[in-house]
Amino acid sequence: MPASLQDLKIAVIYHSNYGHTKRVAEAIAEGVERQRVAVKILDIHQMDWEFADAAQMIVFGSAVYMGSVTADFKAFMDSTSQRWFHRNWQGKWAAGFANSGGLSGDKLSVLQQICLFAMQHGMNWAGFPIMPTGHSSNDINRLSSFIGLMTQSIDAPPEQTPCRGDIQTAEKFGEHLAELLIAQPPKTYPSKLHPS
Ligand SMILES: Cc1cc2nc3c(=O)[nH]c(=O)nc-3n(C[C@H](O)[C@H](O)[C@H](O)COP(=O)(O)O)c2cc1C
Repeated sequence: MPASLQDLKIAVIYHSNYGHTKRVAEAIAEGVERQRVAVKILDIHQMDWEFADAAQMIVFGSAVYMGSVTADFKAFMDSTSQRWFHRNWQGKWAAGFANSGGLSGDKLSVLQQICLFAMQHGMNWAGFPIMPTGHSSNDINRLSSFIGLMTQSIDAPPEQTPCRGDIQTAEKFGEHLAELLIAQPPKTYPSKLHPS
């Protein structure tokens, strides 16, 4: 169990081909930092496994490809099978985010995939309880998602899209997750629950 606030760590693990999902990961991390919790953004192709294993919360994010996590993100998921077997991530908090081109884009399917992945690891799912303020590009949680964070980008550079509301929503998501971790650090982490 973490001794103090200084020991708390959140890993934000993502896959992004064109930078939009990365931009969302950065906004989540910015929100986490506002609560003075240590955070690292980890591209799946440049993993810091030591940090991910030490973190008490892991936030997973993927761009949406064909209504699914990307093939690269799925490869990352599969690469954790030894950690699944040894229950290394059991008892940690998990949360998810998905970015797509379409307004819906079937992001729900991606968040459900990520949630199921976290359940396989025995993690505890943290949803997204922040109420929508409306549905315009300046609104918070404009896509009205509660299982995790949804953002949408158009075909323009990541500095311009996702919209301001989505980026602010991502920051609030990060703040919320850090507050949750501070209030409820996982007490059983890292528990081993192989039946003997
Ligand atoms: C092969 C491929 C499949 C895609 N499938 C979907 C999809 O099912 N739904 C959707 O809304 N957008 C889809 N898109 C658009 C991507 O979701 C969008 O470009 C991506 O989220 C941008 O994120 P990135 O900059 O982090 O890569 C697809 C894009 C590609 C290249």
